[in-house]
This record gives sequence, structure tokens and C-alpha cells, in this order.
Amino acid sequence: MRYNFDEVVDRRGTNCIKYDFAKERGMPEGLLPLWVADMDFKTPLQVIDSLVKSARHGIFGYSDSKDDYFQAVANWFAKRHNYDVKAGWLKKTPGVVFALTMAIRAYTEPGEAVLIQSPVYYPFTGCSEDNDRKVIGTQLILKDGRYEIDFDDFEKKIKENNIRLFLLCNPHNPVGRVWTKEELLTMGQLCKKYGCVVFSDEIHCDFIFPGHRHQVFGALSSDLADISVIATAPSKTFNLAGLQIANLFIPNPSLKSALNLEIKRTGFSQMNTMGLVSCQSAYEHGWDWLDQLLSYLEGNLNLARDFFRDRLSPFTLIEPEGTYLLWFDGRGLGLKQGELNKLMIEKANLWLDDGAIFGPGGEGFQRINMACPRSTLLAALERLALALK
Ligand SMILES: Cc1ncc(COP(=O)(O)O)c(C=O)c1O
Repeated sequence: MRYNFDEVVDRRGTNCIKYDFAKERGMPEGLLPLWVADMDFKTPLQVIDSLVKSARHGIFGYSDSKDDYFQAVANWFAKRHNYDVKAGWLKKTPGVVFALTMAIRAYTEPGEAVLIQSPVYYPFTGCSEDNDRKVIGTQLILKDGRYEIDFDDFEKKIKENNIRLFLLCNPHNPVGRVWTKEELLTMGQLCKKYGCVVFSDEIHCDFIFPGHRHQVFGALSSDLADISVIATAPSKTFNLAGLQIANLFIPNPSLKSALNLEIKRTGFSQMNTMGLVSCQSAYEHGWDWLDQLLSYLEGNLNLARDFFRDRLSPFTLIEPEGTYLLWFDGRGLGLKQGELNKLMIEKANLWLDDGAIFGPGGEGFQRINMACPRSTLLAALERLALALK
């Protein structure tokens, strides 16, 4: 079956935060939104059918998952990511950000420090600070158009701040790096040396461009599996964010029980039934759909790359290795802090994510979500070109 990702689905009036909450979020009405990381594509038909079947049953009592659910998840990670998981490692949570918060509470105490690599997905900072943890950032270095890790600074920050938890974004949102095995090993060994747990957020792992390969942090070695929590979800991959489902893998029983205790303290127990249904169905039936989506996104990336080169100078696109998020450098325009964002809103009529929200190193950059029909992306790029004029 061929899927039509060119189809423009009108999302207005569905209460989605991307299109329907501009006013509530302090934005003018009528902007073209390419900010939050969900897609403008429908989830695979088989997933919709599974949800409809479940809805038609008509009883929405407490649910949990059985072995067929685990098999669907495990098969996905074994075949697509060469990562073999055991049933005892699985912990389901209502989202990755919830899990991240639980990890912060389980593995650190108030006042202690957490390490992040900025610029990074902003809840890494927000959730830490909301829980009275100190955020220590080691900034990624942009060198010849590609972000790199300053390993000396990474080690120094861990050592000096007695870091016990590192929040890794693998692949990295917003800079689009797909960390290599060597980079992950170096980070992992440093964390192990200083007794630091690694929470590896791998929610974007299914979006990898040709020439790159996702390495699951927990599959590096048994030593590193032992200090890690691997957070995955079908939500980015199959556009299911509103169904709030994530699957964590925690091989170390003491790390798992500490996290379980923290989750229990919130009062949370059963997952949302529809989240479970959609996740299993997506991992069972979504293979072909995802392959087609990946080649469509590659087409979007080709379009954006050419457009930036030919029409958007002095903006520079940072070539993404993974994720469906484009990160571009607007510093060449020489605007003062905040003015680039104003240009996006007031002149380009675009609602993007301002790079500054991702922390140090993000100022002067913007993030564009390109998981939309090509016509939408082209319209956004044309708006950018007009604003530059
Ligand atoms: C790196 C990263 N982690 C987590 C999330 C959100 O995960 P969830 O909706 O499962 O909390 C996002 C969404 O953009 C993300 O980019």
C-alpha cells in the first residue's frame, strides 16, 4: 500500500496545541505553525482501525498489557535497532517527560546537580529546576556545521559538580546529531567512572537519515546497560503523542525499583487503554508506513537544504543526521537578542521554536518541524524568504 504524505489534513478545530492554541500561548492568530514536535500526518490506517475496534467495544475500564504487547515492542527494537530487551526490563509510563521527571526524583536529591548538553530539549532543564535540582550544562560545540561534544568539559562538569544523573538526548533534539557508538561509549565510560546514572531519551530513534545509524545507549555494553534507563516511545514515530505512552528499559533491578517507587508516589498506576492499543498496533503493523515516511522526510530535507542554500542566505541550515527537526543558524543576520524570533512571528508569519528556549548555545537559532506535507514546508520556506527580503 502507498501512503499519501502529501495529503493536507486540516487540524484546525481539533484542539491540537499546534494549530488551535495560538492566542492562549501568546501568539498572534494566523501564523503557520511548525513548532511543537508532532506531525501533520495521520497515523497508519491499521493503528486507526485498532483504536476504532477498541472504541467500539465500548468499555474503557482499567487495562494493562500482556506478553503480545511486549513481543511487539521487543521485536521492533531487536529488528530495527539491534537491541534485545527482556520483559523484566520494561516499565511503561505516560510519556518520556514524565519518566525523565521520575528519574530526576529517583536518582538525585533536591539541591543536587543534573548534567545536560545544551542546547537541548527544554524540559530537561525545566523538569530538573521544577524539582529543585541544579542544572549543569556542557555546551555542544558547532564546528564546520556539525555539533561535537567537548569531552574535557563533560568530565570536568561531572567531577566538579558531583553529578549523579546525566540526561542524554540520543538522537539529539534540536541539533539533529545521531551520536556515534564511539561518542556514546566515551560519554558512558565517563559516567561510569564517576558513578553517574544515564537517562537516555531515545524518542527520536526511528528518524535517522541515510549514512547514519542509531545506537541504543543500553546496547553498548552490559556495564553501561547497568547504569542506564533507556526511554523510548511510539509517539514521535507514529504521531501518537496525545495517547501518552512510553516504554522504558531498565536492566538494573535497583534502578528499576527506585523508579517504580517514585512513580508509585505520584499515585499513577494503570496506563491509558488507547495508548497501549495504539502502541502495540503501531509496532506490529507500522513497518512499511514508517519506511515510506522516512523517504518522504528525506525529500522534505532535500527541499529545505536546496532552499536554504539558494534563497535564504545568510541563514544556514545545520544538516540533520536524524529527527524531523531542522535547526538553522540565523546569527548571520546580525540581529539583537529576541529580534530573530520577532522577525519569524511578525514578518514571516511563522510559529517556530526560538533557539533560545533550548538553553545556552541556542540563541540566534530557530527550529522548524518539517514533518508536514511538502506543500506546507514550501509555504513556510517561501515566507522565510519574503521576510528576509
Ligand atoms: C527529546 C524529546 N523527549 C521527549 C519528548 C516528549 O515526550 P513525551 O510526549 O512522551 O513526554 C520530546 C517531544 O518533542 C522530545 O523531543
